[in-house]
Amino acid sequence: MSGSIRLRGSIQRRLIVQLLTGAALLATLMFLVVQSYARDLAGQSQDEILAASVTAILDSAAVRNGDLTVDIPYFAFSMLGNISEDRVFYTITRNGEFLTGYPDLPKPMAATDTAPRFRTDSYDGESIRMVTATRRMSINGQPDFIEVTVAQTRYGLRQQLAGISRTVAGFGLGFFVIAALFGILAAQSAIQPLRQLAGSVSRRGLSDLRPVSAPVPAEMEVLVGALNGFMSRLKASLARSEDLIAEAAHRVRTPLTTVRTQAEITLRRVDKPQNRQAVREMIRAIDESSRAAGQLLDHAMVSFRSDHLEVEDVEICRLTRDAVSRVVPMADLRDIELDVTIPEAAICVKGDAILLQSALLNLLDNAIKYSPPDSRVYVTVRVVETGVEITVQDNGEGFPKADMGRLTRRFVRGSNTETVVGSGLGLTIVNEVARAHGGQLLLTNSSEKGGACASLYFPLA
Ligand SMILES: Nc1ncnc2c1ncn2[C@@H]1O[C@H](COP(=O)(O)OP(=O)(O)O)[C@@H](O)[C@H]1O
Ligand SMILES: [Mg+2]
Repeated sequence: MSGSIRLRGSIQRRLIVQLLTGAALLATLMFLVVQSYARDLAGQSQDEILAASVTAILDSAAVRNGDLTVDIPYFAFSMLGNISEDRVFYTITRNGEFLTGYPDLPKPMAATDTAPRFRTDSYDGESIRMVTATRRMSINGQPDFIEVTVAQTRYGLRQQLAGISRTVAGFGLGFFVIAALFGILAAQSAIQPLRQLAGSVSRRGLSDLRPVSAPVPAEMEVLVGALNGFMSRLKASLARSEDLIAEAAHRVRTPLTTVRTQAEITLRRVDKPQNRQAVREMIRAIDESSRAAGQLLDHAMVSFRSDHLEVEDVEICRLTRDAVSRVVPMADLRDIELDVTIPEAAICVKGDAILLQSALLNLLDNAIKYSPPDSRVYVTVRVVETGVEITVQDNGEGFPKADMGRLTRRFVRGSNTETVVGSGLGLTIVNEVARAHGGQLLLTNSSEKGGACASLYFPLA
């Protein structure tokens, strides 16, 4: 990009970063929610088994022969063993007195009702979950309270949770990757219309100021509207300056013609050689000025018509013959013979006849101006592959080698122009006309005949 454009970030990068951050946050949130849900669920199932185990032990308490017996059923512990290699502890008390089990197990919370009480504590250096339930029995008419506590370490739970966490983390990561891919795609597709617009505008030719007509997303409406408005103002302003040049050239040329006529008359009247020389120089200067004004006018016209090229089928052979016949008087003045080789058949190109005519006249004008008196200028029209080539070849000195690359630039004249009147716009005009028609101007110095050779190539209609 050009050095004067200051960049501030990239929309696409910003979009991607925002989408990725969003996806990462969502994935983390999902992980945390699922993990806490799983923890609750796993804890709940351990609690349920512990409660079932406590109930099974309490159910086995019975009064036999007036005494209390507790026959701990096998399955009361085996169902706990299912979970993993967790260790299981228990305590049974009667009216607060230790009966059997692990005497140093942490004391359960005091009973408020008959519902099982859960508690997380530590025993023997390990975290345990314990459940306690109390049942009221009646022995010999006396109320008797049996309290059973079953506790279990929590390895299994932790292992289970770690497993779940790994799975959920895997899912979270997968979710993030998919969301990230979609995010990148979305950012690219969101930025696509902007890229297309930038591409189509930058691919345009310098003089292409047509409004952007391709459909654009609603968000870009204002930008494209402003761009189109800007281009139409630029176009209007270009047209105005073109008009101004034409007008100015015209206004300069008319009085110059009058001055020239007066100078010619004066030249006839004065006798002194000094004065005659002065008047001659004056006439030459006037010629230069009016020539320059004419070329400026032509150039303004050519630039304008090239920008708004209106094409029709132009018959090149007839056009060339016309142009040649127009320069015959000028060639006669210098005893130059025009040698014309033009096919009889009609050859058509798509173009603007006025522009093509102007290009040809400029080439003929140069050939006549820059070749020595009493020489020949060859004009050839021939069909080549997919186009037509018009060549104007003279017997002069040829294009000055040192200036060859820049002769088509505005106001550039070669080093061979000492006495030749000119403005340096002729080849500029020819080149512009060629380019506007998708053609090409080629300047060479002919090796066999000597002299300059200018060929114009146009694609066939
Ligand atoms: N047929 C030619 N032979 C030699 N030099 C030429 C010929 N045609 C053009 N040139 C060189 O190219 C320069 C640019 O040509 P042009 O743009 O027509 O300007 P000018 O008004 O000087 O003719 C001329 O000044 C001249 O040096
Ligand atoms: Mg010229």
